[in-house]
Amino acid sequence: TMAVPFVQELAKKALTSVPPRYVLPDQDPPIISHNSSSTQVPVIDMKRLLSEDFMMDSELQKLDHACREWGFFQLINHEVSSTLIEKVKKETEEFFKLPIEEKKKYGQKGGDVEGYGNSEALEAYSAELKNVSGKILKLMGKNLRIMDTNEMTTMLEGRQAMSFNYYPACPEPEQVIGLAPHSDFSGLTILLEVNDVQGLQIKKDEMWIPVKSLPDAFIINIGDTFEILSNGTYRSIEHRATVNSLKERMSIATFCSPSLDGEIGPAPSLVTPETPAMFRRIGVVDYCKGLFSRKLDGKSYLDAMR
Ligand code: SIN
Ligand code: FE2
Repeated sequence: TMAVPFVQELAKKALTSVPPRYVLPDQDPPIISHNSSSTQVPVIDMKRLLSEDFMMDSELQKLDHACREWGFFQLINHEVSSTLIEKVKKETEEFFKLPIEEKKKYGQKGGDVEGYGNSEALEAYSAELKNVSGKILKLMGKNLRIMDTNEMTTMLEGRQAMSFNYYPACPEPEQVIGLAPHSDFSGLTILLEVNDVQGLQIKKDEMWIPVKSLPDAFIINIGDTFEILSNGTYRSIEHRATVNSLKERMSIATFCSPSLDGEIGPAPSLVTPETPAMFRRIGVVDYCKGLFSRKLDGKSYLDAMR
């Protein structure tokens, strides 16, 4: 389903002040922006992960470390063709240029719109990402030694949805937030920045760290349902999007979420006397019902599952 942000219409008006709902609350922790490698999300090389030689093991370890310590990583050499990625970026930019009435035709009709209009590029991108997320989820399962559990199957046979995000340029960027801090419901989220404007920040050790994306890399993060599945070993990290003073920003988030007819809960093999279950087991449908009745508010929903 496409999320159409009407904030884009707001941005066309000559506003003298920021409407209150976009004002950034000031109790946030500081932003860390120096460029040392210890404050950048790990970069994982898909080619190495799939190489089946000695490089694979070390890359699997890097992936495991990223999932435990960061909940975020950038994936390079992911084999989705740059031609396809360019097409998807171009179509997304064109989509956001459409007049609002045209945009409305695409999405959110009763909330169950399937497909991506007439876009062959988006269909192909969606299929490619299904493939990428499947491979990554399986490798995460391998690292956790939970490959063939029901919980992994529910995750692997789950649903995929995309959200097209638009953040207008804002003359007072330090006063507004593009997207409030939250963690994702998904198992795994794959983000593509569309127009080379960065703005994603992740919360680590009580600081906001800006993610500096590499060209054509996917920014991947663990969602709440995978944190549950991993019994808290892999982390679903709070993140937010900031806005830029001069340039608009666009991104596409692809959410890979567990199948509606399954259950989520910690994989049984990860529950031991030393590591008791950190989360309840619950049907995915019931989990979603609770989720949508809450507003975007940090990790409060995941915490309610404990
Ligand atoms: C998201 O969290 O869904 C989007 C973040 C971004 O646009 O950078
Ligand atoms: Fe998110």
